[in-house]
Amino acid sequence: MIRLMVNGSAREVTADPETPLLYVLRNDLALTGTKFGCGLGQCGSCTVIVDGQAVRSCMLPVQAVAGQAVTTIEGLGSPERPHPLQAAFIEERAAQCGYCTPGIVMTAKAFLDRTPRPTEAQLTAALEGVLCRCGTHERVIRAVMRAASMPGGR
Ligand code: FES
Repeated sequence: MIRLMVNGSAREVTADPETPLLYVLRNDLALTGTKFGCGLGQCGSCTVIVDGQAVRSCMLPVQAVAGQAVTTIEGLGSPERPHPLQAAFIEERAAQCGYCTPGIVMTAKAFLDRTPRPTEAQLTAALEGVLCRCGTHERVIRAVMRAASMPGGR
């Protein structure tokens, strides 16, 4: 039994301790907002926040996060009450197919928590490792800069 704290709730799972966190989130906890892209730590689609750090959940054994605070895209906001970052992505139409969007939003969230008023160059560098094959990066940058300029936008 592995005890997790996910989106503020205590959860218990019986997965093999070496199971990637991504699989546990999606298959055991039904949190399917976090996406499987490459499975190799290279695309960022599976990014979640663990104790304030953006991490790639496809490469992280679930036992490594036991007792730590895990936040997924579902923990940020809801359709009724989107987080300012989520609202900014909608306003800037920063998702095309949307598959990579949760990983980008979570990467941006962890970055803005550390760097609340980034320059565009800082933000571009921070998002360099999250890939979008639709080519929405310019709109993503606009959305995150918009969120950063809003009160409470982190
Ligand atoms: Fe984890 Fe691509 S699915 S980095």
